[in-house]
Amino acid sequence: MTRATNIVILTGAGISAESGIATFRGPGGLWEGHRVEDVCTPEALARDPVLVHRFYDLRRAALATVVPNPAHDALARLDAAWPGELLIVTQNVDDLHERAGAKRLLHMHGELRSALCASCGDQSRWEGSLAPRTSCPVCGAAALRPDIVFFGEMPYRMEVIEAAIARAHIFVSIGTSGAVYPAAGFVQTARWHGAETLELNLEPSAGSHLFDESRTGPASVLVPAWVDAMLAAVA
Ligand code: OAD
Repeated sequence: MTRATNIVILTGAGISAESGIATFRGPGGLWEGHRVEDVCTPEALARDPVLVHRFYDLRRAALATVVPNPAHDALARLDAAWPGELLIVTQNVDDLHERAGAKRLLHMHGELRSALCASCGDQSRWEGSLAPRTSCPVCGAAALRPDIVFFGEMPYRMEVIEAAIARAHIFVSIGTSGAVYPAAGFVQTARWHGAETLELNLEPSAGSHLFDESRTGPASVLVPAWVDAMLAAVA
């Protein structure tokens, strides 16, 4: 490993589990009581905007009750100190990476604390509840919606992510089940470009066999240990 080693880190709901945010597919998952088609598709938003907005209002409000855990803190430490290229790509819509201090970060599935104008595409910071047909602060259209990438929509910043993966020497996947594409396919792209690949997850994921190495355990333990080893190697 050298100081010019480029790293891409993909995170999923598992990294925020120990902060108290339920994962999507585990027992007690976020969608319990709601079928995904009822809250996370463009059709659901058109059919029942009150339900969809309320669902994300509750998730947004819950952010006030959680804080980053040692895994978020460790990645922020790596981000601040790593001399090579580094990109944290999160599928999470919470803001725990940035609250821990991470800067080189992309939210590929959107953010709870952001509202998207369905008319002009503006993305604005949003803290409170978001009623259907709220006016856009930029174009005035009554078209604000949660800034969440729904099933059937294109994740954000894919060109930037693909380019970073193509340059990566190390690709690490943390706390994600590997059930949702395109993120689930990043490991194959990284391998194709010659990166070493590592999975850190509570249990083997659907794609564990695709990684060079898979370590199982809680993110709050595995991630700080991996970060310490990475930083020691370039100290
Ligand atoms: P999932 O709920 O599918 O998977 C979470 C993974 O985290 C599982 O493999 C768990 O074993 C693991 N896990 C749980 N607790 C952990 C811990 N303490 N430490 C480490 N790992 C742990 O969540 P995602 O893979 O993030 O998309 O789901 C991907 C996407 O599915 C989400 O971004 C969401 C959903 O559709 C959108 O909202 C657009």
